Amino acid sequence: MNNSLEMKKNNKFEIQKIYIENEQTELIVKFLEQLTINSNRIELGKGANGAVYAFGDNRFGDFCLKKVHKLPLMKILSIEEEHEYQQEVLSLGIATPRTLMTVLNHETKEEFFIMERIDGYSIVDTLKNPTLLPESFNYDQFFKKLSDQINKLHENRIHHRDLHAGNVMINEYGDPVIIDFGSAGKHYISDEDIYLFECRKLIDPSKGIYKTVEQKVNTDEENIKVLKEKMSHLR
Ligand SMILES: Nc1ncnc2c1ncn2[C@@H]1O[C@H](COP(=O)(O)OP(=O)(O)O)[C@@H](O)[C@H]1O
Ligand SMILES: [Mg+2]
Repeated sequence: MNNSLEMKKNNKFEIQKIYIENEQTELIVKFLEQLTINSNRIELGKGANGAVYAFGDNRFGDFCLKKVHKLPLMKILSIEEEHEYQQEVLSLGIATPRTLMTVLNHETKEEFFIMERIDGYSIVDTLKNPTLLPESFNYDQFFKKLSDQINKLHENRIHHRDLHAGNVMINEYGDPVIIDFGSAGKHYISDEDIYLFECRKLIDPSKGIYKTVEQKVNTDEENIKVLKEKMSHLR
């Protein structure tokens, strides 16, 4: 481990796993320093389990940071497992942000992902503010690409299982980027219902009490239909 990484061990942030080349680590350590000293952070989005931030400073424009809440509302995979899904999805040639490292704030026990920042917005954001849609956006092409990507994932037994409008982004070229593999699952047994699964649900936030519940969620195909419907005015 190089000096600056050693140094970080004395800080409240502890780098847990690094998935990238050494030269890039330097830049990311600087990014982490910004997190500790800079109040200039921008919230890129929020989900049930965390929030994603970037910094106003352009030098760090390529990265963003996902903070996983200490008491997520609903959590299925660890950030390590989430990273592994993202790696596999990328290896299939499907766009999703590359995770660069995982970090722990050992004072608060909060977990972080540092990942590539997508130059674009979620479907939720573009529905709220249509001016965020890139000019090149084409409804039919977008959904054809999204369906092809999901079919490819399914051929490789991966199911996203949470394909709502906050988890599909539209990049600068108008193409879909599927994010947030925190609820993903692998289909190994053919008659098993991969959309019926156990997850931890936060029952009492003040006491941090969870309950394990079995829940049935929409299939990825059903969710694509919902998204198509929501964006049908752009057809
Ligand atoms: N790599 C990224 N680049 C830019 N924005 C992102 C990125 N990842 C997530 N976001 C934004 O943050 C929001 C929440 O991220 P998400 O990973 O879905 O969190 P959660 O697990 O809490 O649902 C997304 O809807 C999107 O707007
Ligand atoms: Mg999400």
